[in-house]
Amino acid sequence: MIIAIDGPAASGKGTLARRLAAGYGLPHLDTGLLYRATAAALLDQDRDLRDVDAAVAAARGLALTDFDEERLRRREMGEAASIVAAMGPVREALIAAQRNFAARPGGAVLDGRDIGTVICPAADVKIFVVASPEARAQRRALELAARGEKFDYATILNEILRRDARDSERSAAPLRPAPDAVLLDTTRLNIEAAFEAARRIVEEKIRR
Ligand code: CDP
Repeated sequence: MIIAIDGPAASGKGTLARRLAAGYGLPHLDTGLLYRATAAALLDQDRDLRDVDAAVAAARGLALTDFDEERLRRREMGEAASIVAAMGPVREALIAAQRNFAARPGGAVLDGRDIGTVICPAADVKIFVVASPEARAQRRALELAARGEKFDYATILNEILRRDARDSERSAAPLRPAPDAVLLDTTRLNIEAAFEAARRIVEEKIRR
């Protein structure tokens, strides 16, 4: 069973994907880490984030394991990732690794922006997770506070809105639900309730 979870920044898709993977005993790939790691490699080499050739080389050189998640999940890395992720050749360089992961025996859970539309259009279950920008900014603020990062709420909300716009308006694999995705609005749901709702969506698909 392949489960594709897509949605905008801080919608809760990562947490849902992790919990669904644990619940169904499937491996999980957070595809955002691939774009974050590509951006981090460019920054380490003092390259411009819009240097397509360097970004493609960095993307091709990635290993799917060994991510320094603590560094990659920092705020500025999300922003940098959305810049490299807008370049078509970078996305293409990462397709095979994602599809190979999805093709593992037994299946997998992948979360990102284009899993249901581009990476796994034949996924058994597709969930598109949304939440209001304000709810997402609040969640991100709590996450950052828990990690001891400094922030102010207005800045985070602005970053989320800017990232939504960049991810939705790009021509390469823009953020949008697949026609057969089930929409899950988590604005008023806590993690437990969101997980229950996602599990029901999966169970419903399995029944059919
Ligand atoms: O956790 P959060 O939603 O903030 O970010 P993420 O999922 O790690 O993704 C970071 C950035 O990578 C996004 O803003 C997208 O621009 C890009 N991305 C993408 O284009 N396609 C994916 N499948 C995953 C991430």
